[in-house]
Amino acid sequence: MTGLTKTFKIKAKDFIHAGEASINIQNLLKSLDFNPQLIRRIAICGYEGEMNVVMHGGDGQLSVEIDTSKLVMEISDNGPGIEDIEMAMKTGFSTASDEHREMGFGAGMGLPNMKKNSDEIAVESSPGQGTQVKMVFHLS
Ligand SMILES: Nc1ncnc2c1ncn2[C@@H]1O[C@H](COP(=O)(O)OP(=O)(O)OP(=O)(O)O)[C@@H](O)[C@H]1O
Ligand SMILES: [Mg+2]
Repeated sequence: MTGLTKTFKIKAKDFIHAGEASINIQNLLKSLDFNPQLIRRIAICGYEGEMNVVMHGGDGQLSVEIDTSKLVMEISDNGPGIEDIEMAMKTGFSTASDEHREMGFGAGMGLPNMKKNSDEIAVESSPGQGTQVKMVFHLS
């Protein structure tokens, strides 16, 4: 069966519109009567992933594909990529700038939170290759 797919563009360094993709996903899932707790987990993952693209990545996109058994969220960007993914997944690891920290980011909690709130996560990245984060949420 072919699922419902939605894609939203994310612009690097655009803090004015940052977070809009995940709000759109949240509203979509509300309209589809998803369980509020599941919506919350998906929204956290979407928001953290979207902010990482805005702060650390390049231009990119967030997409969700929904079928009967699962929701797959993919967040990708064409930015500088991640040198050491294992390190980036560790709680507290951050390369955020002073400017980002002044805005309240840079705790190094985004990727660990995405791991905690998704059922499956796969991060693919290498320097100069951009970054792709794929998360799966089991439905029912
Ligand atoms: N899309 C991306 N492109 C390049 N580097 C990334 C990307 N996403 C994450 N990273 C790297 O992984 C690190 C850890 O990311 P994580 O989201 O856990 O923390 P953070 O963004 O630094 O801080 P927080 O999310 O708590 O505000 C980042 O500091 C950055 O070095
Ligand atoms: Mg982050």
